[in-house]
Amino acid sequence: MVTEPSRTDRRFRVAVLGATGAVGRKMLEVLAERRLAASEVRALASPRSAGSTVAYGDRTLVVAPVSEAAFDGVDVALFSAGSGPSKEWGPIAAAKGALVIDNSSAWRMDADVPLCVPEVNLDAARVRPRGIVANPNCSTIQMLVALGPLHRVARIRRIVVSTYQAISGAGAQAVDHFRAQSRAFAAGDPMPKGAISKQLAGSLLMEWKRDVNVGYQEEELKMIHETRKILCDPEIRVSPTTVRVPVVNGHSESIAIELERPMSATEARAILERAPGVRVVDDFASGVYPTPLDADGEDDVLVGRIREDLGHPGGLLLWVVGDNLRKGAATNAVQIAEGLLSH
Ligand SMILES: NC(=O)c1ccc[n+]([C@@H]2O[C@H](COP(=O)([O-])OP(=O)(O)OC[C@H]3O[C@@H](n4cnc5c(N)ncnc54)[C@H](OP(=O)(O)O)[C@@H]3O)[C@@H](O)[C@H]2O)c1
Repeated sequence: MVTEPSRTDRRFRVAVLGATGAVGRKMLEVLAERRLAASEVRALASPRSAGSTVAYGDRTLVVAPVSEAAFDGVDVALFSAGSGPSKEWGPIAAAKGALVIDNSSAWRMDADVPLCVPEVNLDAARVRPRGIVANPNCSTIQMLVALGPLHRVARIRRIVVSTYQAISGAGAQAVDHFRAQSRAFAAGDPMPKGAISKQLAGSLLMEWKRDVNVGYQEEELKMIHETRKILCDPEIRVSPTTVRVPVVNGHSESIAIELERPMSATEARAILERAPGVRVVDDFASGVYPTPLDADGEDDVLVGRIREDLGHPGGLLLWVVGDNLRKGAATNAVQIAEGLLSH
C-alpha cells in the first residue's frame, strides 16, 4: 500500500539530480505515483550518463548533465547524487529559487538547514535560511517515524538500536555486485570483485566509513546526531550498532527505549496504531511480524514485536522495518515537498 497523496493546486517544475541512481530512480517512481502535480520533470546526473534514459511513470526521460541552466525555472530540486554534488549544486539551485531537498549527508548538521521527517517535524522545514532542506539518513528516518509518537507522549531518554541494513542503501552498483556475489555463492564459484569491499553473500558486514577517534562507523554517528537534531533534544542518548545484511531492499531495526516514565506495551501499541506513517504488524501468537520483503515497496514504516523490556522494567522493545529507498529516501523527500508546497 502506498501512502495517500497530498493535494496541491499548482503544477511544479521538478528536477531530480542523481536520476540514474538507486534513490533517484525511486524518486521518479514516487513522483509519478503521487499528486505533487509536476508540469515538467528533469532527470539530471553526471556527464557520464547524459543521454541515457530513465522511467518516469509510463514515460521515458532523457538524462541531462547537471549544469546551472538545468535549474532555470525549477520549483523543486530533489538531490540524490552524493555529498560533493550536493555541496556544489545545492546553493546554485536554491539561488535560482528552487526548494532544494537533499538526500546526502552534506547539509544535515548545518545549523541553517532543517533536517526533516514530515511525520515528526515538518514545521522545522518551514524556516530555510539556505533554501535547502535535508533528508535524514535512511536508518534515522524509519526509527523516528516509529519513535517520534512515543517521544511526544513520554519523552524517550535512551535508545539502543541495532540495524540490519539492506545493500540497496549502498547504491545501484552495490546491488548489482551483491546479486553477482549471491550467484557465485550459490554456485560455489570464486567471489567476483565489485562495489562491495568484502563478501556479503552468506555473511554480515560493517563497512561504513570509520571514525577511528571515537570507534564508531559514520552511519552510527549519523543516527546519534540526526536523532538529537530532529527531536530537538540534545540530551537524548542514542547507542547504535549498524550492520549490513544480505538483503536487497528494506532496513530492519531492533530498538530498545527508556522513557521518562514507564510505558506499557498496550499503551505503546495504541499510540503507534494512530501514528501517521506507521503500520503495526504485530501478532506474536500467530507468528506475525514485519520482514524486509513486507516493507519493500511500502511507504509506511512497519512496527512489530512491541513488548515490555524484561531487562529494563518500564522500557520497551520494538522491531521496525522500512523500505530504505522509499520512506528512507525518495518518499520522505517528496513528502517534504508536498507538505511545504501545499501550504
Ligand atoms: N540508497 C539509499 O537507501 C539511500 C538512502 C538515503 C540517502 N541516500 C543518499 O542518496 C545519495 C545517492 O545514493 P544512491 O544510493 O542513489 O547512489 P547511486 O545509486 O550510486 O547513484 C548516484 C547518482 O548520483 C549521480 N552522480 C554521481 N556523481 C555525480 C556528479 N558529480 N554530478 C552529478 N551527478 C552525479 C549518479 O549519476 P551517474 O549515473 O551519471 O554516475 C547517480 O545518478 C547518497 O548521498 C546517499 O547517501 C541513499
